[in-house]
Amino acid sequence: MKDCRSIIAGCGHYLPSKVVSNHDMSKLVDTSDEWIFSRTGIRNRHFAADGELTSDLALAASKQALENANTNADEIDVIIVATVTPDRTFPATATKIQAQLGNRTAMAYDVGAACGGFLFALSNANNYIRLGQATTALVIGAETFSRIMDMKDRSTCVLFGDGAGAVVLKASDDPTRGIIDVSLHSDGQFQDILYTDGGPSTTGTTGYIRMEGREVFRHAVSKLADSAIDTLSKHSLTADDIDWFIPHQANTRIIDAVAKRLDLSTDKIINTVDRHANTSAASIPLALSESVAAGKVKPGQLILHEAFGAGLVWGSALIRW
Ligand code: ACO
Repeated sequence: MKDCRSIIAGCGHYLPSKVVSNHDMSKLVDTSDEWIFSRTGIRNRHFAADGELTSDLALAASKQALENANTNADEIDVIIVATVTPDRTFPATATKIQAQLGNRTAMAYDVGAACGGFLFALSNANNYIRLGQATTALVIGAETFSRIMDMKDRSTCVLFGDGAGAVVLKASDDPTRGIIDVSLHSDGQFQDILYTDGGPSTTGTTGYIRMEGREVFRHAVSKLADSAIDTLSKHSLTADDIDWFIPHQANTRIIDAVAKRLDLSTDKIINTVDRHANTSAASIPLALSESVAAGKVKPGQLILHEAFGAGLVWGSALIRW
């Protein structure tokens, strides 16, 4: 079999129009801009309007990605939505996107790996392409976390936002470009430090986010740094080879601590935490799409992604643009 790679042919993103500042959050819970910004780097987040669904965000990001990739919806062989805030428990939000795009032939399903979801979805799609089972894939990260936030719990409700990002992957036989590696990990023994206190078979409700913030922080920094170091060394690369570090956008202190362990220069870090807060599975494709649209990411450059989330799940990806 010919060595086949996935290249990112186009990206898109969408943010709901409603911007909620730290000051706005301080009217809901006992908090302050100073507390939130100093511990997280967050200033603002976007919240979906009443009736605005995860699929609405995903569809807008997808249309933009398809346009930027010069790709028609009927060319897509696989659609994967990474989300833990789907429109409904079932069917998969991805099937709704498929119908809305007018595609009748793709396989479409959701991946639920919380804030790590986009890299898991990207890995699935990359594998289909490398195996010759697909030539075009639409991979979306989309969340409406505002719907699962306990607006009385100041320790979590200030941290998250809503948004979506999407990428179109295409098969390519150019060995100098595309996804080099996606490395994924999980450790279920830590599932009680970050979870929702509900679910269809537990309470029959969606539940709200619950988190032991300090424990999550500690695991995030060590696991993300280890994963990135392993992935780089597996490909005989060092932090100096990276042009852009585009991590999951949970918290500036986590991002900075990981970058420090990698000895990565700060001007290579893409950070959208201040404007988006943590958009879970949407944060990486959102930050990537914004960076590409701003002309920062250039052909030939090496991108390191990494993600961490409830499960625990984590991983990293290397992409040559
Ligand atoms: N405003 C004001 N005070 C607050 C707030 C708030 N929003 N939230 C908590 N506090 C108070 C606490 O009640 C506590 O008060 P006390 O000392 O009187 O009991 C005090 O602030 C310190 O609380 P800690 O939880 O110890 O604060 P910490 O310095 O650890 O910061 C934070 C909390 C920001 C959540 C931090 O632990 C963190 O960043 N953790 C990582 C969490 C994360 O990013 N999760 C996202 C999902 S996973 C992922 O995507 C990577």
